[in-house]
Amino acid sequence: MARTHYIAGNWKMNTSKAEAVALAKDLVEQLKGKSNKYMIGVPFVYLDAVAQVVKGTNILLGAQDVAATPNGAHTGEVSTEMLKDIGVQSVILGHSERRHEIGESDELINKKVRRALNEGLEVVLCIGELLAEREAGEAENVCAFQLSAGLAGVTAEQMKKVTIAYEPVWAIGTGKTATPEDAQAIHKFCRDYIAKLYSQAVADEVIIQYGGSMKASNAPELLAQPDIDGGLIGGAALKAETFVPICVI
Ligand code: PGA
Repeated sequence: MARTHYIAGNWKMNTSKAEAVALAKDLVEQLKGKSNKYMIGVPFVYLDAVAQVVKGTNILLGAQDVAATPNGAHTGEVSTEMLKDIGVQSVILGHSERRHEIGESDELINKKVRRALNEGLEVVLCIGELLAEREAGEAENVCAFQLSAGLAGVTAEQMKKVTIAYEPVWAIGTGKTATPEDAQAIHKFCRDYIAKLYSQAVADEVIIQYGGSMKASNAPELLAQPDIDGGLIGGAALKAETFVPICVI
């Protein structure tokens, strides 16, 4: 079934304010009138500046995390209220760098997912196995667990605002990409698993992005797979000349 391609850039902890604004301006210009779905995941401190650039365009403004709780005494946290106040529309949650560097648990990720959805934000929920888990034949089990834990309490209706990003951790920022066949196999597994959790209709609609060293040279083959509906792009999203070619496939 034909699902729109959804290409998202995850800027991670990169760019200066001037670079962020300039990159957003380039993307607005170059993606004007293009028909895929687009989002940029911008560092918190530059969201407000970038919001002025992407407002009213076909590029969604995304954050890279959000607090699991409403406003209050939570030092250092950033709430859904604050994100919405400055025009953020989407949030990347469960990224492997937060799972494995910061130690976020599936339970915490699920709280954030529910909070974001209940507050009307879109969510990109990242899942994916470590190299040792893949080598132990556990890739599917890890993805199934992260899906069921991450989506616990999320309704079928809310799934319309959820995108899944399958990002094998061993492929992130390493230059190693899963082969299109390997990626397709896991994407298909995840879609079938979502059908079990919800329904075939929900599974047919849900966008499943691939992430992990995706670039213009390998994106066409990955995106040609029937269950790969887009990409979550890190390194190649930091320059318009490397990101835009993926966006227009
Ligand atoms: P990468 O990052 O494209 O640099 O591998 C992808 C991601 O972590 O979202």
